[in-house]
Amino acid sequence: MGRGDEYVPLFETKEAKGRIPYRLYAASVFVGICMIWVYRVSHLPAAEEQVLERWVWVGAFLAELWFSFYWLITQFVRWNPIFRSTFKDRLSHRYAEDLPGIDIFVCTADPRIEPPTMVINTVLSTMAYNYPPEKLSIYLSDDGGSELTFYALLEASRFAKEWLPFCKKFKVEPRCPEAYFSFVSVDHTLQATPEWSSIKRSYEDMKNRINTTEKLGHISEEIRKEHKGFRDWALVSNRHDHPTILQIIIDGRNRKTVDVEGQPLPTLIYLAREKRPKYHHNFKAGAMNALIRVSSRLSNNPIILNLDCDMYSNNSETVRDALCFFMDEEKGHEIAYVQYPQKFNNITNNDIYSNSFRVINEVELPGFDSNGGPCYIGTGCFHRREALCGMKHGQEYEVEWKRENDKQAEGSSCVLEETCKVLASCTYEENTQWGKEVSLSLSLSLSLSARAHAHTYTSRHSHISVVYVGLQMGLKYGCPVEDVLTGLIIQCRGWKSIYFNPERAGFLGVGNATLLQVLVQHKRWSEGDFQIFLSRYCCFMNGPKISLKLQVSYCVYLLWAPNSLAALYYVLVLPLCLLKATPLFPKISSPWVLPFAYVILAAHGYSLGEFMWCGGTLRGWWNDQRVWMFKRTTSYFFGFMDNILKLLGFNKPAFSVTPKSVDDHVSQRYEQEVMEFGTSSPMFIILATLALINLFAFAGGVKMVIMNEQTNGLEALALQILLSGLVAFINLPIYQGLFFRLDNGRMPASVTYQSVALALFVCSVALY
Ligand SMILES: *[C@@H]1O[C@H](CO)[C@@H](O)[C@H](O)[C@H]1NC(C)=O
Ligand SMILES: *[C@@H]1O[C@H](CO)[C@@H](O)[C@H](O)[C@H]1NC(C)=O
Repeated sequence: MGRGDEYVPLFETKEAKGRIPYRLYAASVFVGICMIWVYRVSHLPAAEEQVLERWVWVGAFLAELWFSFYWLITQFVRWNPIFRSTFKDRLSHRYAEDLPGIDIFVCTADPRIEPPTMVINTVLSTMAYNYPPEKLSIYLSDDGGSELTFYALLEASRFAKEWLPFCKKFKVEPRCPEAYFSFVSVDHTLQATPEWSSIKRSYEDMKNRINTTEKLGHISEEIRKEHKGFRDWALVSNRHDHPTILQIIIDGRNRKTVDVEGQPLPTLIYLAREKRPKYHHNFKAGAMNALIRVSSRLSNNPIILNLDCDMYSNNSETVRDALCFFMDEEKGHEIAYVQYPQKFNNITNNDIYSNSFRVINEVELPGFDSNGGPCYIGTGCFHRREALCGMKHGQEYEVEWKRENDKQAEGSSCVLEETCKVLASCTYEENTQWGKEVSLSLSLSLSLSARAHAHTYTSRHSHISVVYVGLQMGLKYGCPVEDVLTGLIIQCRGWKSIYFNPERAGFLGVGNATLLQVLVQHKRWSEGDFQIFLSRYCCFMNGPKISLKLQVSYCVYLLWAPNSLAALYYVLVLPLCLLKATPLFPKISSPWVLPFAYVILAAHGYSLGEFMWCGGTLRGWWNDQRVWMFKRTTSYFFGFMDNILKLLGFNKPAFSVTPKSVDDHVSQRYEQEVMEFGTSSPMFIILATLALINLFAFAGGVKMVIMNEQTNGLEALALQILLSGLVAFINLPIYQGLFFRLDNGRMPASVTYQSVALALFVCSVALY
């Protein structure tokens, strides 16, 4: 079919326009950067009389060297972005009957943080894909082991019998019921039909039943009688201690369960893997690996879609889009995964927390793609099962999509449930290659880290004392961003990946609604990313398994954490120098000011342009700069420090799920774009202290100008005054939170006192 001369591709790739002007711009900035280096080296204060000045100067130079280095690596993902598009009609035409089966994994961890209604909305949106239902198998992995989630899924399976035919008959979009019914622009003629009112009523009824049960706190006796599955909870003492619960809620193979129109339904499976206090559960990676094994016995479909439970499908054609990449006759065989961007439905106009990853999604990941394929970001990703399970890519690798369809499990669902339970048990992975941990091994401190690593390893599995390095299956453990690492390893095995960012988002999640959520999430990411950098998968030390430009592309994210040091230097040491009237920049009348001015203006002007091109607003860009600074001075710094501690042998893996439901007041402030503090956190103390120090420094600088002290020094301090002024200005929401707000989202009084005291202390130490 379609080989040789007649080959017509299923997808196409376009390069970004305007690359020549971009490269000229980048070259000019580079020249400016070089001039700054020349200035720093040639104007180094003399060693004898100004020892402190000299060191501060060297520090500023190092910070600028770091900024330059990081700027250079970000050029690798901006050099040549590419954009993909698909031809779904050709796919349907060529493979009408031979479309492969798809396994869909939805992961949830905690019913209090991730409400069951949200989880089943995601499940329903995937059940309703425009795809032969008998070829879809949806697995819900519930690490909360919650009866309530199971009950919600049962309700969803009943509602699906109406919802799927409704979606298909009226071709509604999106097919996540909650999103659909809250969509303002629903077709009015459709709203007038009896079907619409009936389906809406069914949905509301279902939601009410789930909410009532949720409020009740336990499953009532009537409901318990409805399904034998509830009996399994008799053995559950708590969510950390229970056997595997596996329930095939809809068995799509036997076609006995059909929707109201008599059409088959997708297979729907509930899985709560075994949890025992003695065994580490390895968070989401552990859940994914259990799902991979269980599904390999039950449906064993060649393509796996992995979704977080808050990320519903916004486009019913998404599966077909993804298949256009995998099934392309020419290039499809080398593709291991197709990654969709992480997009959100709760983004406010100016995106106060910079949730939308605008520039990452629209510029950096397409650039990553052109360098060999994007990283795997843990959700919204279609995988080739073999690649995920550790197969190397080889020249001879060919898929026979037709044959894949015949691999189906035999046996009744009861028997299958029993035989598969062992695959999700705590002990299954012992002495196997599943999920082995990465060892943190910076080559310089190899022995030290190996010991630290062996230590944590043995404490978790006392009977296995080898630090294992080698072929792995499924996802890796022991890294806070196991997804990025897993993607990297897949690419090291010779596979390519694809980044697909269609105009209409394929998946939509719920964005963070408080500042602390954002900071904590980024701490985890930067920590994990930097851990990969320090591991034996370190891009530069690991030999040419992937191309250099792909290695450098990874570094854009892997090096988030060390960014914090240079940023902290700029927002902490520079204002202190200003207070002491120590100049660090050229005089405003000197020609050396030009490279500084050019680099700062050009880089920020470009960044503003890029942000607006990606669909952002001016205030959105300003907010983005603020969050950029906040993350660097707190999240990334903490991520950096944790890695250093880990290298020294202190180890405490922790994974916190960021809550997706917040109370009404918090929601309201989020809608109004008022920054949320509310709780006291060391991160807030750092932010507030830095903000105050810059404010004091700026005030001090302005006082010097007004009093006309330092007549000859002023000119030399102008840039520093400007810089501190800008930092103070970007921190306005912090001052409001500290001193001027009265609502519950303000900074707690304790943070205010501590940060004021700390800032005054630091400033006076610097002054005297
Ligand atoms: C989600 O899908 C709807 C149509 O179903 C579309 O109008 C909307 O633009 C999509 N959202 C995004 C962010 O692309
Ligand atoms: C996000 O939007 C949904 C509706 O689309 C809403 O129910 C939810 O409360 C919002 N979440 C936040 C954090 O604002």
